[in-house]
Amino acid sequence: MNEPRASRSCFGPGRVNLMGDHTDYNQGLALPMAVDLGVAVTFDPWDEARVDISSDAYPGEPASFPLDPDVESIQDLEPAWARLAAAVVSLARPELGGRFHIASSLPRGSGLSSSAAVAVALAELCGVEGDALVVARLCQAAEHRIGVPVGLLDPLVCAGGRAGQALRIDFATLTTEPVTMAVDVECMVVDSGQRRDLRTSAYATRVAECGAAAAVVGPLGLATEADIIGLRDPLLRRRARHVVSECARVDAFARALSRGDLVGAGGVMDESHRSLAEDFEATTPVIDELTERVRSRPGVVGARMTGAGFGGCIVALAEPGTVDPASLDAPAWRVVPVDGTVARRKRG
Ligand code: GLA
Repeated sequence: MNEPRASRSCFGPGRVNLMGDHTDYNQGLALPMAVDLGVAVTFDPWDEARVDISSDAYPGEPASFPLDPDVESIQDLEPAWARLAAAVVSLARPELGGRFHIASSLPRGSGLSSSAAVAVALAELCGVEGDALVVARLCQAAEHRIGVPVGLLDPLVCAGGRAGQALRIDFATLTTEPVTMAVDVECMVVDSGQRRDLRTSAYATRVAECGAAAAVVGPLGLATEADIIGLRDPLLRRRARHVVSECARVDAFARALSRGDLVGAGGVMDESHRSLAEDFEATTPVIDELTERVRSRPGVVGARMTGAGFGGCIVALAEPGTVDPASLDAPAWRVVPVDGTVARRKRG
Protein backbone atom coordinates (compact mmCIF):
# COMPACT_ATOMS: atom_id res chain seq x y z
CA MET A 1 0.00 0.00 0.00
CA ASN A 2 1.16 3.54 -0.71
CA GLU A 3 2.41 5.69 2.15
CA PRO A 4 -0.13 8.34 3.23
CA ARG A 5 1.13 11.76 2.18
CA ALA A 6 1.12 14.73 4.50
CA SER A 7 -1.72 17.19 4.06
CA ARG A 8 -0.68 20.83 3.46
CA SER A 9 -2.52 24.12 3.43
CA CYS A 10 -1.97 27.64 2.16
CA PHE A 11 -3.73 30.97 2.68
CA GLY A 12 -4.18 33.02 -0.48
CA PRO A 13 -4.97 36.62 0.46
CA GLY A 14 -7.45 38.71 -1.51
CA ARG A 15 -6.41 42.22 -2.46
CA VAL A 16 -7.72 45.73 -2.24
CA ASN A 17 -6.40 48.22 -4.72
CA LEU A 18 -6.08 51.60 -3.00
CA MET A 19 -5.15 53.50 -6.16
CA GLY A 20 -4.38 52.76 -9.82
CA ASP A 21 -7.10 50.78 -11.60
CA HIS A 22 -6.96 49.71 -15.24
CA THR A 23 -3.31 50.75 -15.27
CA ASP A 24 -1.61 47.34 -14.98
CA TYR A 25 -2.22 46.20 -18.57
CA ASN A 26 -1.04 49.64 -19.72
CA GLN A 27 2.44 49.54 -18.14
CA GLY A 28 1.29 52.03 -15.51
CA LEU A 29 1.34 52.22 -11.71
CA ALA A 30 -0.86 50.83 -8.92
CA LEU A 31 -0.92 50.76 -5.13
CA PRO A 32 -2.70 47.62 -3.88
CA MET A 33 -2.35 45.63 -0.69
CA ALA A 34 -2.90 41.95 0.12
CA VAL A 35 -5.57 41.68 2.84
CA ASP A 36 -6.69 39.40 5.62
CA LEU A 37 -9.81 38.27 3.71
CA GLY A 38 -8.86 35.43 1.40
CA VAL A 39 -9.00 31.72 0.70
CA ALA A 40 -7.67 28.79 2.75
CA VAL A 41 -6.75 25.94 0.42
CA THR A 42 -5.88 22.46 1.68
CA PHE A 43 -4.11 19.79 -0.37
CA ASP A 44 -4.09 16.07 0.36
CA PRO A 45 -1.64 14.53 -2.11
CA TRP A 46 -2.01 11.00 -3.42
CA ASP A 47 -0.20 8.78 -5.89
CA GLU A 48 -2.78 8.90 -8.69
CA ALA A 49 -2.26 11.26 -11.63
CA ARG A 50 -5.62 12.92 -10.98
CA VAL A 51 -6.82 16.05 -9.14
CA ASP A 52 -10.11 16.38 -7.30
CA ILE A 53 -11.18 19.83 -6.16
CA SER A 54 -14.09 21.23 -4.19
CA SER A 55 -15.00 24.67 -2.91
CA ASP A 56 -17.27 25.96 -0.17
CA ALA A 57 -18.35 28.62 -2.66
CA TYR A 58 -19.77 25.92 -4.98
CA PRO A 59 -21.30 23.32 -2.66
CA GLY A 60 -22.21 20.05 -4.39
CA GLU A 61 -20.15 20.96 -7.47
CA PRO A 62 -16.81 19.18 -7.10
CA ALA A 63 -14.55 18.76 -10.13
CA SER A 64 -11.99 16.25 -11.25
CA PHE A 65 -9.29 16.47 -13.94
CA PRO A 66 -6.05 14.73 -14.93
CA LEU A 67 -2.76 15.91 -13.42
CA ASP A 68 -1.61 17.07 -16.84
CA PRO A 69 -4.79 18.42 -18.52
CA ASP A 70 -4.51 19.68 -22.11
CA VAL A 71 -5.66 23.17 -23.05
CA GLU A 72 -8.90 22.10 -24.82
CA SER A 73 -10.04 19.92 -21.95
CA ILE A 74 -9.45 22.80 -19.51
CA GLN A 75 -11.62 25.14 -21.57
CA ASP A 76 -14.45 22.56 -21.63
CA LEU A 77 -14.11 21.44 -18.00
CA GLU A 78 -17.34 21.32 -16.00
CA PRO A 79 -18.17 22.74 -13.56
CA ALA A 80 -16.68 25.88 -15.09
CA TRP A 81 -15.52 27.34 -11.76
CA ALA A 82 -12.73 24.72 -11.67
CA ARG A 83 -11.18 25.78 -15.02
CA LEU A 84 -8.79 28.25 -13.42
CA ALA A 85 -7.57 25.58 -10.98
CA ALA A 86 -7.00 23.14 -13.84
CA ALA A 87 -5.11 25.84 -15.76
CA VAL A 88 -2.86 26.57 -12.75
CA VAL A 89 -2.18 22.85 -12.26
CA SER A 90 -1.41 22.41 -15.98
CA LEU A 91 1.21 25.18 -15.80
CA ALA A 92 2.58 24.38 -12.33
CA ARG A 93 3.05 20.66 -13.09
CA PRO A 94 3.02 19.32 -9.53
CA GLU A 95 4.68 15.96 -8.92
CA LEU A 96 1.62 14.43 -7.30
CA GLY A 97 -2.12 14.59 -7.81
CA GLY A 98 -4.45 14.87 -4.86
CA ARG A 99 -7.50 16.52 -3.41
CA PHE A 100 -7.76 20.30 -3.03
CA HIS A 101 -10.42 22.03 -0.98
CA ILE A 102 -11.06 25.78 -1.00
CA ALA A 103 -12.69 27.65 1.89
CA SER A 104 -13.17 31.36 1.29
CA SER A 105 -13.86 34.43 3.37
CA LEU A 106 -13.95 36.59 0.22
CA PRO A 107 -17.22 37.55 -1.39
CA ARG A 108 -17.00 35.98 -4.88
CA GLY A 109 -17.11 38.23 -7.97
CA SER A 110 -16.78 41.25 -5.72
CA GLY A 111 -13.59 42.79 -7.10
CA LEU A 112 -11.37 41.61 -4.22
CA SER A 113 -9.56 39.18 -6.45
CA SER A 114 -10.92 35.83 -5.33
CA SER A 115 -9.51 34.26 -8.53
CA ALA A 116 -5.92 35.37 -7.94
CA ALA A 117 -6.21 34.41 -4.25
CA VAL A 118 -7.09 30.85 -5.30
CA ALA A 119 -4.51 30.77 -8.09
CA VAL A 120 -1.55 31.87 -5.94
CA ALA A 121 -2.47 29.43 -3.16
CA LEU A 122 -2.76 26.56 -5.66
CA ALA A 123 0.56 27.52 -7.26
CA GLU A 124 2.21 27.44 -3.84
CA LEU A 125 0.72 24.04 -2.99
CA CYS A 126 1.80 22.70 -6.40
CA GLY A 127 5.38 23.57 -5.43
CA VAL A 128 5.95 26.55 -7.74
CA GLU A 129 9.18 28.13 -6.59
CA GLY A 130 10.60 31.56 -7.33
CA ASP A 131 9.67 35.08 -6.39
CA ALA A 132 6.30 36.81 -6.52
CA LEU A 133 6.76 37.81 -10.17
CA VAL A 134 7.36 34.19 -11.23
CA VAL A 135 4.23 33.07 -9.37
CA ALA A 136 2.21 36.01 -10.70
CA ARG A 137 3.20 35.34 -14.30
CA LEU A 138 2.14 31.71 -13.99
CA CYS A 139 -1.23 32.72 -12.50
CA GLN A 140 -1.77 35.35 -15.20
CA ALA A 141 -0.94 32.76 -17.88
CA ALA A 142 -3.52 30.43 -16.29
CA GLU A 143 -6.22 33.16 -16.53
CA HIS A 144 -5.26 33.79 -20.16
CA ARG A 145 -5.49 30.05 -20.85
CA ILE A 146 -9.17 30.18 -19.86
CA GLY A 147 -9.83 33.32 -21.87
CA VAL A 148 -9.66 36.10 -19.24
CA PRO A 149 -7.25 38.84 -20.40
CA VAL A 150 -6.18 40.09 -16.94
CA GLY A 151 -3.04 42.03 -16.07
CA LEU A 152 -0.52 41.22 -13.33
CA LEU A 153 -1.95 43.42 -10.57
CA ASP A 154 -3.89 40.78 -8.66
CA PRO A 155 -1.51 37.79 -8.58
CA LEU A 156 1.51 40.04 -8.03
CA VAL A 157 0.12 41.52 -4.83
CA CYS A 158 -1.58 38.29 -3.65
CA ALA A 159 1.84 36.63 -3.91
CA GLY A 160 4.11 39.55 -3.06
CA GLY A 161 2.13 41.69 -0.59
CA ARG A 162 3.76 42.75 2.70
CA ALA A 163 2.18 42.80 6.15
CA GLY A 164 1.40 46.32 7.30
CA GLN A 165 2.25 47.89 3.94
CA ALA A 166 0.80 48.66 0.54
CA LEU A 167 2.80 47.76 -2.56
CA ARG A 168 3.61 50.34 -5.23
CA ILE A 169 3.86 48.40 -8.47
CA ASP A 170 5.42 49.78 -11.63
CA PHE A 171 4.14 47.60 -14.47
CA ALA A 172 6.61 49.05 -16.99
CA THR A 173 9.66 47.87 -15.06
CA LEU A 174 7.82 45.14 -13.11
CA THR A 175 9.30 46.36 -9.87
CA THR A 176 7.57 46.70 -6.51
CA GLU A 177 8.22 48.94 -3.55
CA PRO A 178 6.51 48.64 -0.15
CA VAL A 179 4.80 51.83 1.02
CA THR A 180 4.18 52.44 4.70
CA MET A 181 1.25 54.57 5.70
CA ALA A 182 2.62 57.12 8.11
CA VAL A 183 -0.83 57.83 9.50
CA ASP A 184 -3.22 55.78 11.50
CA VAL A 185 -6.06 55.12 9.11
CA GLU A 186 -8.61 52.33 8.75
CA CYS A 187 -9.31 50.66 5.45
CA MET A 188 -12.78 49.32 4.73
CA VAL A 189 -14.28 47.41 1.83
CA VAL A 190 -17.99 47.68 1.19
CA ASP A 191 -19.77 45.23 -1.10
CA SER A 192 -22.29 46.69 -3.54
CA GLY A 193 -23.81 43.23 -3.99
CA GLN A 194 -23.57 43.74 -7.75
CA ARG A 195 -21.81 40.66 -9.12
CA ARG A 196 -19.72 40.65 -12.24
CA ASP A 197 -17.61 38.18 -14.15
CA LEU A 198 -14.53 39.44 -15.99
CA ARG A 199 -15.37 37.12 -18.88
CA THR A 200 -18.74 38.75 -19.47
CA SER A 201 -18.15 42.33 -18.26
CA ALA A 202 -16.74 45.11 -20.44
CA TYR A 203 -13.26 44.39 -19.04
CA ALA A 204 -11.99 42.88 -22.32
CA THR A 205 -13.48 45.83 -24.24
CA ARG A 206 -11.52 48.28 -22.06
CA VAL A 207 -8.31 46.28 -22.59
CA ALA A 208 -8.92 46.45 -26.36
CA GLU A 209 -9.72 50.21 -26.28
CA CYS A 210 -6.51 50.92 -24.37
CA GLY A 211 -4.63 48.75 -26.87
CA ALA A 212 -6.07 50.79 -29.74
CA ALA A 213 -5.02 54.05 -28.06
CA ALA A 214 -1.55 52.64 -27.32
CA ALA A 215 -1.13 51.72 -30.99
CA VAL A 216 -1.22 55.48 -31.68
CA VAL A 217 0.60 57.02 -28.70
CA GLY A 218 2.57 54.13 -27.16
CA PRO A 219 1.95 52.46 -23.77
CA LEU A 220 -0.58 54.62 -21.92
CA GLY A 221 1.14 54.17 -18.57
CA LEU A 222 4.19 55.93 -19.99
CA ALA A 223 2.28 58.60 -21.94
CA THR A 224 1.77 62.23 -20.90
CA GLU A 225 -1.30 64.44 -21.15
CA ALA A 226 0.33 66.14 -24.13
CA ASP A 227 0.75 62.79 -25.93
CA ILE A 228 -2.90 61.86 -25.72
CA ILE A 229 -4.14 65.11 -27.25
CA GLY A 230 -2.99 63.45 -30.48
CA LEU A 231 -5.74 60.83 -30.17
CA ARG A 232 -8.49 61.81 -32.58
CA ASP A 233 -11.16 59.40 -31.37
CA PRO A 234 -12.85 61.10 -28.37
CA LEU A 235 -13.69 57.76 -26.72
CA LEU A 236 -10.10 56.52 -26.90
CA ARG A 237 -8.90 59.92 -25.67
CA ARG A 238 -11.09 59.63 -22.56
CA ARG A 239 -9.90 56.07 -21.87
CA ALA A 240 -6.29 57.21 -22.25
CA ARG A 241 -6.86 60.29 -20.09
CA HIS A 242 -8.04 58.03 -17.28
CA VAL A 243 -4.91 55.87 -17.45
CA VAL A 244 -2.50 58.83 -17.63
CA SER A 245 -4.19 60.72 -14.78
CA GLU A 246 -4.63 57.55 -12.68
CA CYS A 247 -0.89 56.82 -12.79
CA ALA A 248 -0.16 60.35 -11.57
CA ARG A 249 -2.69 59.79 -8.77
CA VAL A 250 -0.86 56.67 -7.54
CA ASP A 251 2.17 58.74 -6.59
CA ALA A 252 0.11 61.72 -5.38
CA PHE A 253 -1.86 59.37 -3.12
CA ALA A 254 1.24 57.55 -1.80
CA ARG A 255 2.91 60.91 -1.08
CA ALA A 256 -0.15 62.20 0.76
CA LEU A 257 -0.35 59.07 2.91
CA SER A 258 3.31 59.08 3.75
CA ARG A 259 3.18 62.68 4.95
CA GLY A 260 0.04 62.01 6.95
CA ASP A 261 -2.20 64.15 4.77
CA LEU A 262 -5.50 62.30 5.00
CA VAL A 263 -7.52 65.10 3.43
CA GLY A 264 -5.17 65.13 0.43
CA ALA A 265 -5.29 61.32 0.12
CA GLY A 266 -9.09 61.36 0.29
CA GLY A 267 -9.29 64.00 -2.42
CA VAL A 268 -7.15 61.83 -4.72
CA MET A 269 -9.50 58.87 -4.08
CA ASP A 270 -12.50 60.99 -5.07
CA GLU A 271 -10.77 62.14 -8.27
CA SER A 272 -9.89 58.55 -9.11
CA HIS A 273 -13.49 57.45 -8.72
CA ARG A 274 -14.69 60.30 -10.91
CA SER A 275 -12.19 59.40 -13.61
CA LEU A 276 -13.17 55.72 -13.50
CA ALA A 277 -16.85 56.73 -13.72
CA GLU A 278 -16.65 59.43 -16.39
CA ASP A 279 -13.60 58.76 -18.54
CA PHE A 280 -13.29 55.01 -18.16
CA GLU A 281 -16.97 54.14 -17.60
CA ALA A 282 -16.04 51.26 -15.31
CA THR A 283 -18.54 52.06 -12.54
CA THR A 284 -22.30 51.50 -12.31
CA PRO A 285 -25.08 53.66 -10.79
CA VAL A 286 -25.14 51.29 -7.79
CA ILE A 287 -21.37 51.66 -7.24
CA ASP A 288 -21.53 55.45 -7.68
CA GLU A 289 -24.39 55.78 -5.20
CA LEU A 290 -22.65 53.53 -2.63
CA THR A 291 -19.37 55.45 -2.97
CA GLU A 292 -21.16 58.75 -2.48
CA ARG A 293 -23.08 57.45 0.53
CA VAL A 294 -19.98 56.02 2.25
CA ARG A 295 -17.97 59.13 1.37
CA SER A 296 -20.45 61.37 3.15
CA ARG A 297 -20.12 59.52 6.49
CA PRO A 298 -18.32 61.53 9.19
CA GLY A 299 -14.78 60.17 9.59
CA VAL A 300 -14.49 58.83 6.02
CA VAL A 301 -11.64 60.57 4.22
CA GLY A 302 -12.13 59.10 0.75
CA ALA A 303 -13.83 56.31 -1.19
CA ARG A 304 -13.55 54.80 -4.64
CA MET A 305 -14.36 51.70 -6.64
CA THR A 306 -11.60 49.11 -6.47
CA GLY A 307 -10.47 46.50 -8.98
CA ALA A 308 -12.08 46.02 -12.36
CA GLY A 309 -15.34 47.81 -11.49
CA PHE A 310 -18.64 47.05 -13.28
CA GLY A 311 -19.95 46.05 -9.82
CA GLY A 312 -18.17 44.54 -6.84
CA CYS A 313 -16.71 46.37 -3.85
CA ILE A 314 -15.62 49.89 -3.07
CA VAL A 315 -12.76 50.83 -0.76
CA ALA A 316 -12.91 53.61 1.82
CA LEU A 317 -10.35 55.07 4.21
CA ALA A 318 -11.57 56.38 7.55
CA GLU A 319 -10.13 57.96 10.65
CA PRO A 320 -9.70 55.17 13.24
CA GLY A 321 -12.79 54.30 15.25
CA THR A 322 -15.13 56.65 13.41
CA VAL A 323 -17.12 54.24 11.22
CA ASP A 324 -18.61 50.93 12.31
CA PRO A 325 -18.74 48.70 9.20
CA ALA A 326 -21.98 47.19 10.53
CA SER A 327 -23.66 50.60 10.26
CA LEU A 328 -23.20 50.97 6.49
CA ASP A 329 -26.36 49.12 5.32
CA ALA A 330 -24.22 46.93 3.05
CA PRO A 331 -21.83 44.08 3.83
CA ALA A 332 -18.59 45.76 4.91
CA TRP A 333 -15.28 44.68 6.39
CA ARG A 334 -12.32 46.38 8.00
CA VAL A 335 -9.22 44.97 6.30
CA VAL A 336 -5.52 45.09 7.12
CA PRO A 337 -2.49 44.47 4.88
CA VAL A 338 -0.97 40.99 5.24
CA ASP A 339 1.89 39.03 3.69
CA GLY A 340 1.33 37.39 0.32
CA THR A 341 1.98 33.69 -0.30
CA VAL A 342 5.64 34.17 -1.27
CA ALA A 343 6.45 36.27 1.81
CA ARG A 344 4.82 33.57 3.94
CA ARG A 345 6.84 30.83 2.25
CA LYS A 346 10.05 32.76 2.82
CA ARG A 347 9.22 33.13 6.51
CA GLY A 348 8.76 29.31 6.57
C1 GLA B 1 -8.98 43.16 -12.50
C2 GLA B 1 -7.81 42.53 -13.25
C3 GLA B 1 -6.51 43.31 -12.99
C4 GLA B 1 -6.68 44.81 -13.16
C5 GLA B 1 -7.93 45.31 -12.43
C6 GLA B 1 -8.22 46.76 -12.70
O1 GLA B 1 -8.83 42.97 -11.13
O2 GLA B 1 -7.63 41.20 -12.87
O3 GLA B 1 -5.48 42.81 -13.82
O4 GLA B 1 -6.70 45.15 -14.52
O5 GLA B 1 -9.08 44.55 -12.78
O6 GLA B 1 -7.24 47.56 -12.14
